[in-house]
Amino acid sequence: MSKQVTINWSESVPSTDEIERSKPTISSAQQDQLIARIKHLLIEQNAVLVAHYYTDPILQQLADETGGCVSDSLEMARFGKASPANKIIVAGVRFMGETAKILSPEKSVYMPNLEATCSLDLGCAAEDFIPFCDAHPDHTVVVYANTSAKVKARADWVVTSGIATKVIEHLASEGKKILWAPDRHLGKYIQSITNADMLLWQASCIVHDEFRADALLTLKEKHPDAKVLVHPESPYTVVEMADVVGSTTQLISAVQNMPEKTFIVATDNRIFYKMQQSAPDKILIEAPTGGAGATCTMCAHCSWMAMNTLQGILEVLEQGSNEVTVAEEVRLKAFESTQRLLDFAASIKK
Ligand code: 13P
Ligand code: SF4
Repeated sequence: MSKQVTINWSESVPSTDEIERSKPTISSAQQDQLIARIKHLLIEQNAVLVAHYYTDPILQQLADETGGCVSDSLEMARFGKASPANKIIVAGVRFMGETAKILSPEKSVYMPNLEATCSLDLGCAAEDFIPFCDAHPDHTVVVYANTSAKVKARADWVVTSGIATKVIEHLASEGKKILWAPDRHLGKYIQSITNADMLLWQASCIVHDEFRADALLTLKEKHPDAKVLVHPESPYTVVEMADVVGSTTQLISAVQNMPEKTFIVATDNRIFYKMQQSAPDKILIEAPTGGAGATCTMCAHCSWMAMNTLQGILEVLEQGSNEVTVAEEVRLKAFESTQRLLDFAASIKK
């Protein structure tokens, strides 16, 4: 049995094009001034910028240049907690800001845009999820990090794509039955690898959902030597065609470490910035989001990630706007399931 969720995305989500068009156009001199002012304020306020690989390369570069970090959702959480800064600015989506606050309550956490959410988070409302868990008390509840603090608070474990398979393998070895939420594709992928007994919530990532296996097959025929790299939020038919399935960090490592020259990449295309930086001689091709005549809304770039801007960061620093808050009773429960992830990650690293 699985839990269905139906959301009419076309009405509720602006397309990536709309988001990009709504941004103010500034000259490169104005952009340089903006960056210089942000750098100054970051130092003055003992603040650190933590950015996801899917954000604008300008923000990724700024995070790198100012001693912040650019990474996947697991490392973003770790870095924010370990950083000596007392102000964390999270350029990413809402659950990433909330995770930083859950782990670092003594720090102030801000986001360039609090409207930046995620279809997985939206597709797993706590009001629906909690009764579903209550109806299956014999299951260990494992949720993907792409969820609200309230959903994390109901979970036994929080996982990210980089470590999900290992956690489920561990729980399955203890004979546990798993209730997995919210990403159905990631759930199915993990189930196929681990053979675990898993009950799957049925939400999905609106960006990765658009990758198409038939169009990918056609592209592969044109580039027979290319290796296919796929984020596991993609449909299972696409995952099945992958040479490497992994988190954002794992896909960047694959480009860097595999001997092949050409890669077809099925994930948000802003990741190309880091891939190209770490392996400048490699050729990267975007995986197709539609077959002949098809259209896409996100077109391999997350609208919500696109809401993160330099202007938003400056607003945080100048006006203290967009602080992320999590109710303390929710935070305390969400801390347990999230800290379990960090402890597990540290234990398998040893
Ligand atoms: P990673 O944990 O691989 O960075 O993925 C986060 C995400 O939102 C992917 O769509
Ligand atoms: Fe959520 Fe998908 Fe955007 Fe990642 S890419 S933040 S999973 S909507």
